[in-house]
Amino acid sequence: MKIEPVPREPAVHGVGRWADESVWTGTRVPLTAATGLLPESYTDEGFFAAERSRMFERSWVAVGNAAEVAEAGRLLVRRVGGRSIIITRDQEGVLRGFVNSCRHRGTELAAADCEIGNTIRCPYHRWGYGLDGSLRSTPFFEEIPRPDFNRDDFGLVEVRVETWGLLLFACVDAATPTLCEWLGDLPDRMGGYGFEHWRVQSEATLEVRANWKLITENFQEYYHLSWVHPELAKVSRVKDHYRYQGPGMYCGQTTTPISGDDRDDWLVLPPAAGLNQSDLVSGRFVAVFPNVMLAALPNHVFLIRLEPVAPGLTREWCTFLLPPSTPEVSDEDMAQTRSFWFDINNEDIDIVERGQRGLAAGAVAPGPLAPRFEEPLHRFHNMLADIMTADCPSEIAIPCGDDDSEAARLGSGVNPYPPEIG
Ligand code: FES
Ligand SMILES: [Fe+2]
Repeated sequence: MKIEPVPREPAVHGVGRWADESVWTGTRVPLTAATGLLPESYTDEGFFAAERSRMFERSWVAVGNAAEVAEAGRLLVRRVGGRSIIITRDQEGVLRGFVNSCRHRGTELAAADCEIGNTIRCPYHRWGYGLDGSLRSTPFFEEIPRPDFNRDDFGLVEVRVETWGLLLFACVDAATPTLCEWLGDLPDRMGGYGFEHWRVQSEATLEVRANWKLITENFQEYYHLSWVHPELAKVSRVKDHYRYQGPGMYCGQTTTPISGDDRDDWLVLPPAAGLNQSDLVSGRFVAVFPNVMLAALPNHVFLIRLEPVAPGLTREWCTFLLPPSTPEVSDEDMAQTRSFWFDINNEDIDIVERGQRGLAAGAVAPGPLAPRFEEPLHRFHNMLADIMTADCPSEIAIPCGDDDSEAARLGSGVNPYPPEIG
C-alpha cells in the first residue's frame, strides 16, 4: 500500500495565510490541549511582514519612555511596524503624533530624534508645520496661485500617541480600541507605584539573535527558572509565583514575597515611599502586548522594550528607573542592581538565541504547553491570533482576567498579599 505524504501546503498562501484561522488551530483550543506557535512564526520573512502590518500596525506599541516627551521642544522619530512616525509635545503640553511624511511630496520630515522650536520643517522645499500639525508656510507657492489649494487641507496626518506611567505608546490604526481599553485594569492594578513620577536612571541597548516573540514568551513563563537562572530562583522563588492578570492586553505574574535571603544585591536601594503592603514585598513581571517587558521591584524598575529588526533579530531597549523618593544613587550602588539584571538577562539571551537556532534549523512541529507554567503564553498566543485574523482591529477580543477558582491550579496556593485594585 502506498503511503500518501501528509500535505504540507497550507490552504491559503502568501501573507494572507497568517490571517487565516486554519494556521492557529494549536492556539485556539483550551490550554490543556494547546501547542506552541508554528516554527515559521519565528523564522519566516512572510510571517514577519504579515505580523508587521496586521499586528504592529494595528496595536498600541510602546515606542519609548514617557520621560522622553516630558518637555516641549523635543521631536522623537519612531517606527511602528513599517511606519515611521514623529512625536512631540506642543507648548500647551499636548502630546502630538504624526506620520513622518510631508504633505507636499511625501519627504521624510525628520531622520532622528532632535530638538525643534515651534515648527516642523520639511528639509526639501521648507514647508513648515505647527506642532499641532497644521500647515503654516509654503515658500514661493503663492507666486502662481492655485485656486484649489487650501493649507487647511494639508496638515500632517495624525497618529494616536499616549503615555501610561513610564511608557510612551503609539497606534497608527484609528479603529484600534483606546489605550485605556487596551491596558484594561493594569493602570489601576499598578497605580500604587505612581510610575509617572519615576525617573530614568540609566539605559542600554542590546541586539538579540532571536525573534521578539521568543524573548517575551521567555519573560512570561517561569518554567525555566531553576535551570536557566539558579541565582534568580533564590530571589524570585518558583513556589512564590502567582498569576497577576486582570482584563487587558497583558500577561503577568507576581513573586510574593520576593526574597533577599540568598542574593541581596538588588536590595541595595531603598524601597519606594508609600507602597502598600502587597507592592512592598512583591516583584511584578508584566508583559504588555506586544512589546514591553516590565519588572517592577519595590525599589526599582527594569524595563525592556522590544523592537523587531528581522525574524531572527530583535533590539532590546533596556531602562532602569528609580522612584522619586530615592535620592541620587552612586554608580557603585547602581552597578550591583544593574549587574543583577544583566546576569539574568544574559542567561535569557543565551537560551532564546538557542531557541531561535533550534526553530530555524529544526522546524519541528510545536509541542504541548505546560499548563501549570505556560498559561500566559497561551493567553499571549491568542492575543496574537486574534489580531492577525481580525478583519478590523475594532474586533479584537481583549482578554478577561484570571478566574479566582483557578488559583490552585495556576499558582502554588493563594497569594498571601493579593494586589489591591481600584
Ligand atoms: S516634499 Fe516637503 S516641502 Fe516639498
Ligand atoms: Fe528568564
